[in-house]
Amino acid sequence: MNIGVLGAGQLGRMLALAGYPLGHTFRFYDTAPPESLPPAAQLAPYVNGRFDDLAALDAFAAGCDVVTYEFENVPVGAAMHMAESRPVYPPPRALEVSQDRMAEKALFASLGIPTPRFAPVDSVDDLASAIAKTGLPAVLKTRRLGYDGKGQAVVRGVPEAAAAAARLGGCNLILESLVAFERELSAIATRGRDGTTVIYPICENTHHEGILRCTLAPSPGASSAAAEQAHRHVAAILDHLDYVGTLAVEFFDTGDGLLANEMAPRVHNTGHWTIEGCRTSQFENHIRAVTGLPLGSVEPLGHCAMVNIIGRAPAADDMLRLGAKVHLYGKEPRPGRKIGHATIVASSASELAGPLEALRGLVLAANQGERI
Ligand SMILES: Nc1ncnc2c1ncn2[C@@H]1O[C@H](COP(=O)(O)OP(=O)(O)O)[C@@H](O)[C@H]1O
Ligand SMILES: [Mg+2]
Repeated sequence: MNIGVLGAGQLGRMLALAGYPLGHTFRFYDTAPPESLPPAAQLAPYVNGRFDDLAALDAFAAGCDVVTYEFENVPVGAAMHMAESRPVYPPPRALEVSQDRMAEKALFASLGIPTPRFAPVDSVDDLASAIAKTGLPAVLKTRRLGYDGKGQAVVRGVPEAAAAAARLGGCNLILESLVAFERELSAIATRGRDGTTVIYPICENTHHEGILRCTLAPSPGASSAAAEQAHRHVAAILDHLDYVGTLAVEFFDTGDGLLANEMAPRVHNTGHWTIEGCRTSQFENHIRAVTGLPLGSVEPLGHCAMVNIIGRAPAADDMLRLGAKVHLYGKEPRPGRKIGHATIVASSASELAGPLEALRGLVLAANQGERI
């Protein structure tokens, strides 16, 4: 099949790399200028267009058997328009929910999935009542378009909250209680066109300055009760949305149950370890799902660690010597920018520990003196 992907970043690139051995071809559509050579455009035909240019979207769709997307800020209207002429997976409704942190939390609540306490903030006047609901400290976030911790501020008092609200645009915000979690977990799952669902082993994630740094999988810290809760919650969301494709849900593990943070209707950074660490990667299963193939096994192949390469990359040779597999996305190095990741799969937790520490050391050293 010819698979059309909206978005041409590294997630699209890894979708194509997983889909080629299934016999598929790919084409990408994004707003980035072609001369900037976005990561996926280095592998496959690339169409540069706007998401409100329906004629350009139609022309793109005409060459595709199925359309999917690799970033969650594809305008819902564009996805719905394309769904009139071509199958579009995941369903545009999943996009709509995940583009708005209020809608997302409301969906979680409607499915009985616990979340941090939250309240909408549409003006400075809303702050007092929102704080009454969430308590302090709290996190003020833009409802839309936030990523990698951008558009967020931790607030500890009313004046600080008012200043942060003004900085974040004053309206369309959400206030959440700041969760003192024991660890962050994510559940990645893929649902096929026939409703069959596979759920990957639960991942344990470390963030710094709002950016994912490292994922360990299967999570060494999560209790079996927490893992089972995460599985139940992700399955409930998939079924409710009649979802097709790979979905990620992020949780805070409080040690006394999980609170859902957010979801992404796409393959996810916390699932990159599945390329080497699972029998079938999140990327391959996404492609299998949207093309109607049976899903592959999600059995883990060992104790896995994925480290994001942010800023500048260490020498590939140094990472390879540690037994890591190195994925570079073809992006220019820039402070704070995700330009690749490296994965180590070991046969035991103790065998993983040394190389993982060394790998993190290399990534830190490559960025010394710069924000990473
Ligand atoms: N309510 C919260 N309590 C504690 N930490 C939070 C909260 N919200 C966000 N964070 C921290 O910030 C990170 C990024 O926030 P998130 O809501 O996932 O936004 P993004 O869309 O940028 O990933 C989270 O992974 C977590 O480490
Ligand atoms: Mg997140």
